[in-house]
Amino acid sequence: MMCVKVLKCLIVSLIFQEVSCGAQIHWINCSTSDPSHFKFATCNLRNFKKSDAQFSCYVQVLEPIRDCMVRLETLYLVGRKPIVLLNASCDACELLKNRKRFVAVSRMFDIIADKTNLNHTCPYAHNIFANNLTLDLHKFPFPMPRGKYYMKVSFFVNRDTNKVYVEGAATIF
Ligand SMILES: *[C@@H]1O[C@H](CO)[C@@H](O)[C@H](O)[C@H]1NC(C)=O
Ligand SMILES: *[C@@H]1O[C@H](CO)[C@@H](O)[C@H](O)[C@H]1NC(C)=O
Ligand SMILES: *[C@@H]1O[C@H](CO)[C@@H](O)[C@H](O)[C@H]1NC(C)=O
Ligand SMILES: *[C@@H]1O[C@H](CO)[C@@H](O)[C@H](O)[C@H]1NC(C)=O
Repeated sequence: MMCVKVLKCLIVSLIFQEVSCGAQIHWINCSTSDPSHFKFATCNLRNFKKSDAQFSCYVQVLEPIRDCMVRLETLYLVGRKPIVLLNASCDACELLKNRKRFVAVSRMFDIIADKTNLNHTCPYAHNIFANNLTLDLHKFPFPMPRGKYYMKVSFFVNRDTNKVYVEGAATIF
């Protein structure tokens, strides 16, 4: 059910062997398929021109979350055709319930966990927030080559009846 394709990332890092030293987030965008069930009250990027940009958001949860699949897509924008670095899905409710079973994903989740209120299990019936998330390259499990990236996190909630998206673009230099 859960798979994280890190292989491609490693290969790309080897091809574009450059040491990255910082990241700049250009924009971040939040949307939901049905604002009467899930609605972003805030979605903002502070200091977005600088390398220590901070992302915060607040989602109003107006329908309890019984199940939720999360998909993380990362594209490396190089040349004419972007390279799909990562396209992995996982069951968010399973992850929250049993973090020890999913070591690799859990480790990535740990990077942001203490800045969110995602600390209990489904069904989830309160608003969700993330405060002052930063892109800290030192915490990444693998090296990231320099260049432009596009990233999209999709949440398919309650058997896909609701969709929540956070997407953005960044440059690693
Ligand atoms: C933000 O998301 C909306 C809805 O998906 C899209 O129409 C819009 O183009 C996005 N903005 C940017 C800057 O990509
Ligand atoms: C990621 O996988 C999903 C499901 O297989 C697919 O619909 C989507 O187009 C893929 N995304 C990219 C960027 O290739
Ligand atoms: C979850 O986090 C909130 C805010 O940090 C805290 O008040 C609450 O007690 C935590 N719940 C659990 C089950 O850890
Ligand atoms: C987020 O950062 C801003 C500015 O740096 C600060 O004022 C605010 O208190 C921080 N919020 C939290 C919850 O840490």
